[in-house]
Order: sequence, then structure tokens, then C-alpha cells
Amino acid sequence: MRACRVGLIGAGGVAQRHARVLGGFDDVELIGVTDVVPDAAAALAAEHGTRAYADVAELLAAGPDAVYVCVPPFAHGPAEQAVLDAGLPMFVEKPVAVDLATAERVATEVNRRGLLTAVGHHWRYLSVLDEARELLADRPVRMVSGAWLDKVPPVAWWARRDRSGGPVVEQAAHVLDLVRALVGEVSEVTAYGNGTPPPVDGADIDSVTTAVLRFTNGAVGTLSAACVLGWKHRAGLEILADGLALSLTEEGLTIRDADGERHVPADPEAARVAVDRAFVDAVRGVGDDVRVPYAEALATQRLALAVSDSARTGATVPLTTAGSPAVLTSGVTVDA
Ligand SMILES: NC(=O)c1ccc[n+]([C@@H]2O[C@H](COP(=O)([O-])OP(=O)(O)OC[C@H]3O[C@@H](n4cnc5c(N)ncnc54)[C@H](O)[C@@H]3O)[C@@H](O)[C@H]2O)c1
Repeated sequence: MRACRVGLIGAGGVAQRHARVLGGFDDVELIGVTDVVPDAAAALAAEHGTRAYADVAELLAAGPDAVYVCVPPFAHGPAEQAVLDAGLPMFVEKPVAVDLATAERVATEVNRRGLLTAVGHHWRYLSVLDEARELLADRPVRMVSGAWLDKVPPVAWWARRDRSGGPVVEQAAHVLDLVRALVGEVSEVTAYGNGTPPPVDGADIDSVTTAVLRFTNGAVGTLSAACVLGWKHRAGLEILADGLALSLTEEGLTIRDADGERHVPADPEAARVAVDRAFVDAVRGVGDDVRVPYAEALATQRLALAVSDSARTGATVPLTTAGSPAVLTSGVTVDA
């Protein structure tokens, strides 16, 4: 069996995780890594017995079968374009960009070239998702409340809106992606931020944001994001249907209905492995379980940006049934 030759763009925290997971697959060969910080690429390459390349072009010239793009939100775009130009399957870390224009451009190219893509929304691989779906199959969701209540992560770019997109785009996107998967598409968002950055040098993001969501299927919901704590307090969502309350986090699903309460544990690490396994299997042509291709992540990005735009402008942001807002960040209007 020929190994799937994988290259990594970016050598930071999440790239290190993918390298570790991929390194554990006996059908994957990590052929190299590149980073704008050469020492970072060299350190990760040394750890995995692979090569560090000076730039993306050199990495691509080494002939990978697939490439992971593990750069911060603001750095997306050029790396994806280079991988697309090389006609290669591509795994992109979430969020797919800091804005919508970049993500739309990449999505259009992905679509035009018909290339295989996957995005790192690994919560979609939590084992409890199927159970949640089954429980909701015969009763409509009435309400959802999602939350990501956390600290400011220790990466320099995180507290800058133009670098990370802010907590909703950067972090709560995982929750918004599951909201879309379990509840449906949002038709309208009204959000509020407190306008006060967290106490971190150079910060210009809201330290707390709360949004009201209206769904096309009649459900209503909220999404709250906060980065004012010194710890990860809670990340997940609660879904209410008639006679049913579901509480879902990366650690498991708590189900409360007329029969009482039960908890089904989930393994977040297994989901992080599964997202890579599914991508590699798809690249090798032996699997078809990529749950969030680029186009699907684009819809989550639209929703996250609708929340952050509404919080910034004070205006309600309408979205179409496809999850596409009529008016986008920075006043850019695109086809819905
Ligand atoms: N899916 C998940 O569970 C998960 C977990 C952690 C991080 N992430 C996401 O992954 C992304 C990166 O996060 P991180 O924690 O690895 O950040 P990080 O700051 O630790 O690492 C980012 C790396 O990318 C490099 N880089 C920046 N621009 C580059 C470019 N143009 N070309 C090549 N390398 C470049 C940086 O030098 C740095 O080494 C973020 O968007 C984050 O949200 C996802």
C-alpha cells in the first residue's frame, strides 16, 4: 500500500496536533512542513523526522498527495490558492478566513476545480451526534442556546479583530457549526457586544458577545461568546424540543426527557483523530466521510460573520436559507 504523502503549511499548535495524529496513521507519510517562521517549521519537522521547506512552493514541489493549511485566520488565502493551483486535496483549519471575501474566493475555486476539501470542524465527528440527531428526528427543535465561555488563548494574534476575527469567528464557530448541523439554517441574527476588549495588550475584540438567532424552521436561539475568564468554562449547546432537553459538549451528551436524565460520554480526542482519518481515507479513495467540506464551512463562516457584524454595527443581519447574508462584513454585497 502506497502511503498518502501529506504536507503541512503552518507549524503552530494545531499543526502539531495534526502531525501527531497523522504520524499515528500507518498509511500516511508526512513529507514536510513549512512556516513563515523557519524555526517553527524546523522544530516540527525534526520532531516527526520529516523535512522543513522554505515556503509553500518548495513544499508543493516535493509532490504531496494532500496538504493541510494550518495558519491563523488572517493568513488564509494565498496558501489555499497555491494548493488549489497544484490541483491537490486540501484540509483547512477553521475558521477558513478572517473575512468572507477570502473564503468566498477559495470556495469558488474549490468548486470550479472540483477538488476534495475538508475543514477542521471536528465536533461533527463526536460519537454522540448520531444519538442527538435520532432523538430530534421526530420532534422539531424549539430553542437552542450555544455558548463558548473561555479565556484569551495564548497566541499573539488572537485578541486582534483583523487577525482572528474575534471570539465568535475564531472559537464559537465550532458551536455555530453544530447549531447548523442539529437545528438548521439561521435566517436572521441580532447580536450585541460589550465594546470592551479583554485585558490583553493590543486587544480590540469584544470580550463578550451575545446573539439572538432566528431559524428558517421557526426555532429561536442564542449564542454567547466570552473570553474574560482564566479558564475554559463551558463550550457547547443546549437544545430544547417538546419534552426533550439535550445538552451537548465535546465531552458528551446529557439527555433529559420524561424518563429522567442520562449522560452519554463522548471522546473529543477520538473526534480529532476521526476528522483526519476521514480526510485521508477520502484522499486515498477508500472512504467518503468528510462531514465538513469547504462549502459547508463557508456557510458556518457566513453565520459567524453575521453574528460579529451585527454586534459591531448594531444592525440585524438577515441571511438567506443557504446561510448567506444579503449584506456582508465591510459593507460588501454579494449574490445570496
Ligand atoms: N480545530 C481545532 O480544534 C483547532 C484547534 C486549535 C487551533 N485551531 C485553528 O487553527 C488555526 C491556527 O491555530 P494555532 O493554534 O495553530 O496558531 P499558532 O499561532 O500556534 O500557529 C500558527 C502558525 O502558522 C504560521 N503561519 C502564519 N502565517 C503563515 C503563512 N502564511 N504560511 C505558513 N505559516 C504561517 C505561524 O508562524 C504559526 O507557526 C486557527 O485558526 C485556530 O482557530 C483549530
